[in-house]
Amino acid sequence: MLIVFKKCFFLQNCSLFLPTGTSTQYAKAGGLASESLSSIRTVTALNAQPDIISNYRKFLIEAMRIGIKSGLRVGFATGMIWLVMLCTYAITLWYGSTQIADTLEYGYTDWPRAQTGGKVYSAFFACLIGAFGIGQLAPPAAAFTSARVAAKTFLSVIARKPLIDGLSEEGLKPNDRPTGAVKITNMTFSYPTRPDINVCKGYNLTIEPGQSCALVGPSGSGKSTIISLLLRFYDPNSGSVTLDGTDIREFNTRWLRSQIGYVGQEPVSILFTMYLR
Ligand SMILES: Nc1ncnc2c1ncn2[C@@H]1O[C@H](COP(=O)(O)OP(=O)(O)OP(=O)(O)O)[C@@H](O)[C@H]1O
Ligand SMILES: [Mg+2]
Repeated sequence: MLIVFKKCFFLQNCSLFLPTGTSTQYAKAGGLASESLSSIRTVTALNAQPDIISNYRKFLIEAMRIGIKSGLRVGFATGMIWLVMLCTYAITLWYGSTQIADTLEYGYTDWPRAQTGGKVYSAFFACLIGAFGIGQLAPPAAAFTSARVAAKTFLSVIARKPLIDGLSEEGLKPNDRPTGAVKITNMTFSYPTRPDINVCKGYNLTIEPGQSCALVGPSGSGKSTIISLLLRFYDPNSGSVTLDGTDIREFNTRWLRSQIGYVGQEPVSILFTMYLR
């Protein structure tokens, strides 16, 4: 009975986890395809189509590999379950028939030695159906585990306290509009995802109120990064960014952002092409 239960459990597990690995690979392939198509101009400009196609193919080949592996496991498990079930049939019927033969030969009348065909079949089917019934517990049990794992991930995202809280009520909220004096002093910064690469290495910048200013530099030199720091999407590693002489970390983040009008440079931005001259 235990063996039949275990096999049922194994089979259910195999079929449950079968799509997980492949769907992850399909999700990666889909993500790559949609990202590439939405930035098709950049992809074409960099002549990156062959690389993208080969990466896309890699994900699909990986999905196929996982699918074949899972298919083999399911096939093996199905074979095993039938083997165990038919062996159980054979052993039970053989053993039951010897018991019945003994009962008839020696004329047993007392339980448990006295056996009849009905008793043997009842015991046999009770064990078999019971074992399969317990085996059916596997999918809901595995679904509970998957649900708990999934819930843990998104609950941790919800519970995560951001370093810079854009919804916080803390910090200065001056009633007057800032004059717009921006000063960046000895500012160094690296993105949290790439802490070893310093994007800003000791930048200094002073913009007087009302002054028009253009930041000029090669691509990747940190122009947009300065705007992200001014909007407090990130904080500098060292040095300071001040607005009207006050470090922007002291202001309420939502208030600070409401004082700045920013039009992103993305080529899809209608605002950028329409309103900037
Ligand atoms: N979110 C991010 N995470 C990690 N690195 C980033 C991130 N955003 C930008 N970078 C890197 O920081 C560097 C500076 O990028 P930034 O966008 O500030 O350059 P830029 O001067 O605005 O360039 P461009 O003229 O192309 O707009 C680049 O090397 C870029 O790859
Ligand atoms: Mg930029």
